[in-house]
Amino acid sequence: MSASTSTVRWGRAVAEARTNIALVKYWGKRDAALNLPAAGSLSLTLDGLVTRTEVRFDGKLNEDRLVLNGKAETGKPVTRISQVLDLIAALAGGRERPRAQVESTNSFPTAAGLASSASAFAALALAGSGAAGLQLPPPALSVLARRGSGSAARSVLGGVVLMNRGTAADGLDSHAEELLSIDEARAWGLRMVVAVTSEGPKETLSTDGMNRTQETSPYYAAWIKSVDGDLAAARQAVLARDLPRLGELTEQSCLSMHASALAARPAVVYFRGVTIEGHRAVQQLRKAGTPVWFTCDAGPHIKALTDAAHADAVAAALGALPGVLSSRVCLPGAPAQLIESGSGAAA
Ligand code: DP6
Repeated sequence: MSASTSTVRWGRAVAEARTNIALVKYWGKRDAALNLPAAGSLSLTLDGLVTRTEVRFDGKLNEDRLVLNGKAETGKPVTRISQVLDLIAALAGGRERPRAQVESTNSFPTAAGLASSASAFAALALAGSGAAGLQLPPPALSVLARRGSGSAARSVLGGVVLMNRGTAADGLDSHAEELLSIDEARAWGLRMVVAVTSEGPKETLSTDGMNRTQETSPYYAAWIKSVDGDLAAARQAVLARDLPRLGELTEQSCLSMHASALAARPAVVYFRGVTIEGHRAVQQLRKAGTPVWFTCDAGPHIKALTDAAHADAVAAALGALPGVLSSRVCLPGAPAQLIESGSGAAA
């Protein structure tokens, strides 16, 4: 695909993407510059936790602008967005691009600490490429979103999503694919309960925690070595609709990832007391016969994989823990969607 700068139609587009929770975690990179994961991962895209992003290329602007939930941002967040827009310009064949106005809002309160780079960069990749007149197929869109954030590569797709590690040096085979569509995942009855804890935003950003684990943890190599087997088993469990097996692998993957992070020097600790209580509550529910498995990410919030028949009871049990502010049941979510596209302020 190539075109001279003058033939690129720089316009505007709006896209939406949902966040996702990894069942088999991504924690480590094989190439930092291209943001290539050291191993594959598996996730569930979630309904209801949506980022909506508008990109408008505008020849009158002299710098990229980012407005996040109504607040103008500066510094690193803008730089990360500019880098993805530069990649889009290269794909569109434009040697130079107009600067862009990017406006992004989350459907969920940012204060809840669930604001996610996954939904943000998936929505940006789709809105930005749409505004540059590109119609990228899902694998190319996923590669683009991955350059913004590894987990964003998965939010391009809906339902149950498999992220391929890839082997190519240029990373073009490192993209996500849909393992179960949203309809298949819903028909199976998968649910994710998300319990937001009262502790504030995460102290160590995922990229930093991941890097420190990779550089200093004596358990990092063992963690990465374990992922391929877990991923293959989780894929089989999904295809066989075997929730207990998938749940077991989900909990193991989360705890192995955190074990590698805990052993970093200095330690990368995302758990708070309430996170551990959440893990214990999930174990007790399971002992009493509820199909539910614990997971958590680069923050203290508690997430639990369960099924449609038990989701409300799990949400109530986690919601009743001291230190949990709120809990909600999430259904499997849809792929990223282009909402509008058209000509905007021209270059
Ligand atoms: C714990 O995708 O945020 O949520 O690629 O550096 O932006 P970068 O990392 P990011 O890491 C996500 C880490 C995780 C596990 C997961 O989502 O797989």
